[in-house]
Amino acid sequence: MSTPYTQAVKQLHTILDWIRFGASEFERNQLYFGHGTDNAWDEAVLLVTASLQLPFDLAPERAQCRLIDDERLLIAQRIEQRVNQRIPVAYLINQAHFFGLPFYVDERVLVPRSPIAEVLKNRVAPWMEGREPARILDLCCGSGCIGIASLKVFPDAQLDLADLSLDALDVADINIQNYGLYEQVAAIQSDLFANLQGPYDLILSNPPYVDLEDLSDMPDEYHHEPAMGLGSGDDGLDITRQILANATDYLSKDGVLVVEVGNSWVNLEAAYPQVPFHWLKFEHGGDGVFVFTREQLQAHQHHFRV
Ligand SMILES: C[S@@+](CC[C@H](N)C(=O)[O-])C[C@H]1O[C@@H](n2cnc3c(N)ncnc32)[C@H](O)[C@@H]1O
Repeated sequence: MSTPYTQAVKQLHTILDWIRFGASEFERNQLYFGHGTDNAWDEAVLLVTASLQLPFDLAPERAQCRLIDDERLLIAQRIEQRVNQRIPVAYLINQAHFFGLPFYVDERVLVPRSPIAEVLKNRVAPWMEGREPARILDLCCGSGCIGIASLKVFPDAQLDLADLSLDALDVADINIQNYGLYEQVAAIQSDLFANLQGPYDLILSNPPYVDLEDLSDMPDEYHHEPAMGLGSGDDGLDITRQILANATDYLSKDGVLVVEVGNSWVNLEAAYPQVPFHWLKFEHGGDGVFVFTREQLQAHQHHFRV
């Protein structure tokens, strides 16, 4: 460990000492915050409390508790890794929250952050209003966070989690086990729809969609995420084009497709000027999520299947 951190291990004793030290280090080194928190203080609170198996919203009096040697060493190492290697905290603590639920994560999957969480909080209204999907697909599932969260809203559905990456599916499996969902959820290796058996009543997808320009501008933190989870061709739409061309065949008659394309929504509008995409608005940040019913997709099929 380098000097400021070995000194810190000797001199800092309470939880609050370590949060303060972490926040100052993060600020001084101008880290990027985009994987769970949006500022240095919260990032330090998350790193320190999770490393001690304590809740993020720690009672103020507990912040004065003193730490034992091993705890100080672990936290110092993690602060150093966050600063010098720019590793997102979620990977250091192997946990990220999505839809208010904890998910196991490591560098085999993206850190969950999709605004599709808000779509689920609203029960995919009005598209799924008054209806319970019998079968849900989380396409390009990564950790499985979106699909597993959907079962909190639609608890009786059967869920398929699909990803091309076996590494990602291993992580999804850990989350299936952690939530005791092995009878309700299948993790399937599939290049998009290739190994899937429709029809699905609800398809949720946060596929790779970062375009080449954004990819080259990404802060170091993103280089710890699997490249396969981010880029998707020059305009970020290679995968989305295939989803649009094929989803109709995998949706039930009243099925609904929800797809995130983030900043690449501009490219999508430019690629299909005749198609009226319905873009969702979010209270808690994020953009670039569109929704189609099967009927609407079918009506625009000739644009997507070229
Ligand atoms: C943006 S990440 C999203 C992960 C997860 N849905 C989330 O929101 O955290 C995209 C995922 O798509 C997977 N992927 C990339 N190409 C794919 C393909 N052709 N078929 C299936 N999955 C693919 C990647 O392995 C990665 O896990």
